[in-house]
Amino acid sequence: MAKPARHVFVCSQNRPAGHSRGSCGQKGCAEVVDEFMKQWQDRQLFTQVAVTSTGCLGPCNVGPSVVIYPEGVMYGNVTKGDVGEIFDQHLLSGKLVERLLVSAGIW
Ligand code: FES
Repeated sequence: MAKPARHVFVCSQNRPAGHSRGSCGQKGCAEVVDEFMKQWQDRQLFTQVAVTSTGCLGPCNVGPSVVIYPEGVMYGNVTKGDVGEIFDQHLLSGKLVERLLVSAGIW
């Protein structure tokens, strides 16, 4: 397996209704995960980018949350509609999507 240039972690955590932390699951992360997987497959980026759905990344209040390495940046409040821009701008061109970055106090 080739070592990918970038690795995307997409929170897919769910918690029961009424839980004090809430969850990305309650904010629509399932469709964000699905869109990452769809575009990863459509673009045939298997050797360049790894995409992993994961448990809680920490700051549930700004979810759906996405972390990308090696830059070590976190995007918050990510929607299905943001995924194409993350692929085009960050994953393929190396430029951060500034409008989605969480604040420095969070990550
Ligand atoms: S549930 Fe997604 S960051 Fe905590």
